[in-house]
Amino acid sequence: MIRTDEIVKRYRNGTVALHGITLDLDERVTAVIGMNGAGKTTLIRILSTQLEPTSGKAEINGLDIMKNASQIRKNIVSIPQEASPIGILTPFEHVKLYLVGRGMSMSEAERNANISLDQLELREFKHKPSDTLSGGMKRKVFVAMALSANVDTIFLDEPTTGLDPLSRMEVWSAIRQLEGNVILTTHYMDEAHELSDEVVMIHGGKVLEKGNVKSLLSRFKGLVRVETTVPQEKGLQIGRLYIKYVKEEDAEKYLGEGYNIKRITLDDLFISRGMALES
Ligand SMILES: Nc1ncnc2c1ncn2[C@@H]1O[C@H](COP(=O)(O)OP(=O)(O)OP(=O)(O)O)[C@@H](O)[C@H]1O
Ligand SMILES: [Mg+2]
Repeated sequence: MIRTDEIVKRYRNGTVALHGITLDLDERVTAVIGMNGAGKTTLIRILSTQLEPTSGKAEINGLDIMKNASQIRKNIVSIPQEASPIGILTPFEHVKLYLVGRGMSMSEAERNANISLDQLELREFKHKPSDTLSGGMKRKVFVAMALSANVDTIFLDEPTTGLDPLSRMEVWSAIRQLEGNVILTTHYMDEAHELSDEVVMIHGGKVLEKGNVKSLLSRFKGLVRVETTVPQEKGLQIGRLYIKYVKEEDAEKYLGEGYNIKRITLDDLFISRGMALES
């Protein structure tokens, strides 16, 4: 369980990445979404005690991120966005050493390393030097570390970026089996939809939306998205594409060449920002 109260982060160069984030995160899996530069990584780094907020407070399971940081670190894992394994070490060595470093016995660490690497289908590669792995496999080594650590709270910053569709599903399946709370960031709206009990959308360092997928999409009820290259008076223009929302029963007016009708997804939270929905 995570509570934050008016978290502000101003970086040394003056950039204000977070403008007062107040959140209660109680669900098992929370997806944090938002555009590039929205502040997702900054928030994750603050919550996982890697970065100090400029002001504001936060606690994880009742422990204060500033006062009880070392205690918190024992109960969380945080996998950064840009993590890359050490080339000469094998995936097995990475996970094992990580777990031993966290205080696990050698035999338990080896057992857990095997289980998590097998679960993520790295069986064949687990004893090969990491620099012989593909980018997606390298990413999965870190996911395996997070999965095997047996902690309360796991932070995953873009865990599936660069993974092929099957590997993403393996990571999803592993995340679903975790016992603790998971806070992940993602740019894949299908991932947020599939995996999370709650979605938090951050924009410009502020919380713009929070709720389960159904409630977030409730304003689009009965609507579909029409995309077309045929110029439209109303709606949004992205390059040569015009986008508008129309009632499902009116969608047939837009069947035909040059028109595309799309079902509503979390993408529409981004697309429709600042746009009037047609009634
Ligand atoms: N070390 C830093 N020093 C100064 N500014 C930073 C630093 N790290 C991030 N920022 C700025 O803070 C803002 C938020 O960045 P952050 O990395 O948290 O975004 P993000 O939502 O994770 O983006 P992405 O989706 O691209 O990963 C951006 O304007 C970024 O330029
Ligand atoms: Mg980021």
